[in-house]
Amino acid sequence: MEGLAGRTALVTGAGRGLGAAFARGLAAYGVSVGVLDIDGDTATATANEISDTGARAVGLIADISDRSAVLEAITGCEDALGRIDILINNAGFGTTKETAGLEWHEWPEDAWDAVIDCNLKGAFLACQAVAPKMMERGWGRIVNVSSATVWHPLANGAAYIASKAGLIGLTRSLATGVGEHGVTVNTLVPGLTKTDHMADLYPDEQFESFAQLRAIPRVELPADLVGTALFLCSDASAFVTGQSFVVDGGHVFD
Ligand SMILES: NC(=O)c1ccc[n+]([C@@H]2O[C@H](COP(=O)([O-])OP(=O)(O)OC[C@H]3O[C@@H](n4cnc5c(N)ncnc54)[C@H](O)[C@@H]3O)[C@@H](O)[C@H]2O)c1
Repeated sequence: MEGLAGRTALVTGAGRGLGAAFARGLAAYGVSVGVLDIDGDTATATANEISDTGARAVGLIADISDRSAVLEAITGCEDALGRIDILINNAGFGTTKETAGLEWHEWPEDAWDAVIDCNLKGAFLACQAVAPKMMERGWGRIVNVSSATVWHPLANGAAYIASKAGLIGLTRSLATGVGEHGVTVNTLVPGLTKTDHMADLYPDEQFESFAQLRAIPRVELPADLVGTALFLCSDASAFVTGQSFVVDGGHVFD
């Protein structure tokens, strides 16, 4: 993991789940971490937990779909930790209590907008805010977190899957624009992963039945994604850009 120590990362949606795992993983390799979440309590708790290990971290509260909140949080991150070298666009969601169980054609327009605004526009806003400075400095790593559901879609996940497919397009487009300035943009594609929140939502049987679809037939855990995320943030991936990395134990094949 060359080139990580001494860098600063901003990880969105990092109060819990995969984002928290990425933040902890980066911190373990000497990266200072801005832990951004719409839930300020979890952002602070995760940042404090990382700080307790001796690494540098700051909790930042922002709704990633709100441009002015994003800019304020990024300024807060830079003030606390310095320039941002690494951005992981991880904040995302698929359904809420209101939309769970609805058929795709029953979804209210504002529910569609909320998913797209968080998962896709939010990533764009964060890229727009940090990538120009990365380009000026000649080094940067951006990782957009998509979903293997793009490869095995469900009809009632239309907004979520459209947003996650959109991130792949965003990745490819931005990669083309920033590559000559030493900045890479890639997509990390998790399969169904047993985070604490997912474990609250779904029974164990759901994870077990998914596990049986994989070449490596076991339940995917947040730790399974951290190595690939760190690789994409390091110097080792300097000549890799615009790509999608499916990390799902061998369920879908591109
Ligand atoms: N867990 C899985 O099975 C799985 C599979 C494929 C892709 N993913 C993707 O990985 C990412 C993380 O998933 P997770 O399972 O850890 O989810 P999670 O719900 O546990 O964590 C998501 C975090 O994002 C935050 N967040 C939500 N909306 C936000 C907003 N508007 N602004 C800022 N923060 C916001 C939440 O507060 C939460 O802390 C998501 O983008 C998700 O779509 C997850």
